[in-house]
Amino acid sequence: MRIAVCPGSFDPVTYGHLDIISRASKLFDKVIVLVSYNPSKQTACFTVKERIEMINAVIGDYPNVVVDCHAGLLADYLERTGACAIVKGLRAVTDFEYEFQMALANKKLFNDADTVFLTTSPQNMYLSSSMVKEIGSLGGDISDFVPQQIRSVIIERIRPDTSNTKGSK
Ligand code: PNS
Repeated sequence: MRIAVCPGSFDPVTYGHLDIISRASKLFDKVIVLVSYNPSKQTACFTVKERIEMINAVIGDYPNVVVDCHAGLLADYLERTGACAIVKGLRAVTDFEYEFQMALANKKLFNDADTVFLTTSPQNMYLSSSMVKEIGSLGGDISDFVPQQIRSVIIERIRPDTSNTKGSK
């Protein structure tokens, strides 16, 4: 069985991620969407549990896709699960240097897996989790960026606390 891992922060999952996951599910027998986190860096907006719940809420149509989480080296996870590939989306040339460096490091740490880059679909070129959070927190419409099932959870978390007007000037 050819297993691929799609790692990321997924804070939160977006249509961009889902596009990559969906395409990876056609290329591999099994795809593990891996919420990777570092317990000593608590910078995420959503907990790991919430991120997993959001992904599960929107990947119902893919029978060969599962969701998992992992704290630590991706290479260790690949070895433990027998995965042969890491699948990443590439949006633009600005992603490339960082992704290339990670791909080389992961190959060095675990030689039995390769990084496969899928070019993002044109409509998702600019899309990122940070942009969703920024637009949503400023009252913008995020319906083109994240599926309807998880929109209210995201808005609820990121909308500004209007009860506190201190610092508004
Ligand atoms: O969605 P992101 O934040 O771009 O994902 C980055 C991620 C989680 C894929 C990357 O930071 C990662 O693989 N972290 C796991 C820790 C690890 O193995 N680091 C060394 C990779 S070279």
